[in-house]
Amino acid sequence: MAQTAPTPSGLPSVSFAQPESDTGQDERDAAIQAFRDVRAETERRAACLSAEDQVVQSMPDASPTKWHRAHTTWFFEQFLLAPQAVGYRPFDARFAYLFNSYYVAAGPRHARPKRGLLTRPSAAEVAAYRAHVDAAVATLVLEAASDRIGEILRVLEIGLHHEQQHQELILTDILHAFAENPDAPVYDPDWHMPRPDGRDGAVDLAEGIRTVGHQTKEFCFDNEQPAHRALVGPVAIARGLVTNADWLGFMNDGGYARPELWLSDGWATVAAEGWSAPGYWREADGRWLALTLAGLAPVDPALPVCHVSYYEADAYARWAGKHLPSETEWEVAARGAELGGAFGSVWQWTRSAYSPYPGYRPVEGALGEYNGKFMVNQMVLRGSSCATPRGHARASYRNFFYPAARWQFSGLRLADFSS
Ligand SMILES: [Fe+2]
Repeated sequence: MAQTAPTPSGLPSVSFAQPESDTGQDERDAAIQAFRDVRAETERRAACLSAEDQVVQSMPDASPTKWHRAHTTWFFEQFLLAPQAVGYRPFDARFAYLFNSYYVAAGPRHARPKRGLLTRPSAAEVAAYRAHVDAAVATLVLEAASDRIGEILRVLEIGLHHEQQHQELILTDILHAFAENPDAPVYDPDWHMPRPDGRDGAVDLAEGIRTVGHQTKEFCFDNEQPAHRALVGPVAIARGLVTNADWLGFMNDGGYARPELWLSDGWATVAAEGWSAPGYWREADGRWLALTLAGLAPVDPALPVCHVSYYEADAYARWAGKHLPSETEWEVAARGAELGGAFGSVWQWTRSAYSPYPGYRPVEGALGEYNGKFMVNQMVLRGSSCATPRGHARASYRNFFYPAARWQFSGLRLADFSS
C-alpha cells in the first residue's frame, strides 16, 4: 500500500556508512537491516498489483513494476556483487541485458520503450532473482574483509537510495498505466493525498549570499554537491502550495487558451497534447474528477494541484503575476522550515534548469552516469511527494524532469519579487 505520511524536513535518511571509522559488527548489522527494510518496501508497493498489472508499460518514460523490481536488483548485482563478492555467479546471465537502464559502461541493454514487451521472466522469476541477490548481499556485508567493507557499504547505500527512487516510480508509473484503463482501477483504496499545512503568506528572503547544497555527512547524491555560496533575494516565497481551487481559477479564466501566458514550447505542447486541465482530470456532469491511486475521486479544492508540467506551472505563475522560485530560493526558505507542504505532498517545480553546481564532479566509474549526463534540457523540482519513501527527502535534494512531464506528483508554489 502507498505510504501517505508526509516526510518533514530533517528526517534522517537511509544512512549507515561511516567510512572514517572502523566498521564493526554494529555497522554491518545496521546496513543489513536498512537493506532488508528498503527491499521489503519495494515488495510492499508491488503487492497491490497483479502479475498482469506488473507487465504493462503505458509510455516510454514509464516502466513496468516487474522491471523496476528486477532493475533495482540488477543494480546491486552489477555494482556491488560482481566487483566485490568473490566467486559470485549472476542469477541469470541474460538479466544484465534486460535490466540495465542507461549505464553505457555496464554494457548493452534492452530498448527502454520495449520494457513492457517482456512477458518473461515472470513476476515469480523476478521474485526469485530478488531473493538470490538479497541473500548474496547479506552474506557479502557479513563476511567482507575489514579493508573492503567501507567501499561495500558506500555502494550499498547508493543502491538503497536508488531503489527508493524506483519505489516512487512504481506508484507514478502504475497510475499512468491505470489512467489508460477506462475502468479507472484502484491501486490502494486507502491511499490519500496528505493535507499539507495550510500556511498563509510568504517567507521574505532579504538579499544576501547564502550557502546551498548538501552540507552534512549524511548521504546525498553527487548532484547536490559541492555546497556553494549563491546570491539570494530579495524575494518572497509563498508558504502554501498552489491548490486545486487556485488552479480552477486559472482554468476558468481561460488559462489553457491564452497564448500570452505560455512559453512557446509550452503552448505547442498544450496544442499537441490537447491539455485543458491537470493530468488525470476528467469532467463528468459539470464537475471535475481526478484519477488517483485510490481510484476516481472528485477534485478536492483544498488539496495542492498535482500532475502539472513545468510549462503549466510557469503559465500559472505568469497568470498570477508572479514567478516560480529558483531552486536556491526554495532551498534557503525550506531550511528555515517555514514552508507548508515542502515535503510529502507534491514535488515543486522551480524555474531553475538542471545544471551542475560550480565545481561539480560525478562519482568515479560507471556510477558517474547516475546524474551528471542528464544535466541538460530538464528543470529542477524540490521537496518530495506523497509517493516518496519515508527517509528519502532532504532540503538539498534535486529532482529533475523534462518540462512537459506531468506523470510525477508535481505541483508548485509561487515566488514574488514585488514586495
Ligand atoms: Fe535506476
